[in-house]
Amino acid sequence: MRCICCFLLLLFLVAAGLATFAVTQFKVPTVNFYGLTDHPSGLPHFNKTSTSSFDINAGLRIGVVNPNMAGVSFEKIKAMAYYPTTPNKSIGGGELSNLVIKSHATTNFTFPFHVELDASNHEEQRMLLDVSQKCGLTGGEQKDLIINYMLTPTVRVIGFPVSPVIKDSVQVPCPPLGM
Ligand SMILES: *[C@@H]1O[C@H](CO)[C@@H](O)[C@H](O)[C@H]1NC(C)=O
Ligand SMILES: *[C@@H]1O[C@H](CO)[C@@H](O)[C@H](O)[C@H]1NC(C)=O
Ligand SMILES: *[C@@H]1O[C@H](CO)[C@@H](O)[C@H](O)[C@H]1NC(C)=O
Repeated sequence: MRCICCFLLLLFLVAAGLATFAVTQFKVPTVNFYGLTDHPSGLPHFNKTSTSSFDINAGLRIGVVNPNMAGVSFEKIKAMAYYPTTPNKSIGGGELSNLVIKSHATTNFTFPFHVELDASNHEEQRMLLDVSQKCGLTGGEQKDLIINYMLTPTVRVIGFPVSPVIKDSVQVPCPPLGM
């Protein structure tokens, strides 16, 4: 009996030691944003869908520097963006499947992003007005835009899909006019 206890304790200590090693060795990957490019599926930057509404399609160029010994494979990454004036209505989003972040390497990829705007919608008019004010179109100083986002990455852990939800915000400079 004493021997089994001793063995279990030893096993526990080894497991705790390994877990501590893994956690202390984990370095948070650096995510770099390299700006906008074409939509990865070749959708047009701008598509007028009715007299007052239009779509914007773009690709976000992202690089992830992963200094860890382990890579991660994402089955799917879903992103939704929200503008502060319309906190409950997404302004756009995108989805990327089968992304592999390699270990000890930089992984560059393009995230597809799609925005639908309707200039006859009251809430979206408020948003467009706020954007033009922040971007200095109405005179005054140019400020960064705040975009709230929700990321849902899906990874498989021993065969089961796990999708944590990450909510955060980014400050982005005003888009160059005419994009
Ligand atoms: C542009 O929008 C129209 C109307 O929604 C749609 O039918 C068309 O497929 C879109 N074009 C492209 C290239 O996505
Ligand atoms: C957004 O939704 C939350 C909770 O559902 C609500 O409390 C809030 O008033 C809503 N905000 C707007 C601007 O509609
Ligand atoms: C990733 O993109 C950046 C910026 O364009 C470039 O400097 C870097 O060499 C690229 N890295 C790889 C591994 O492709």
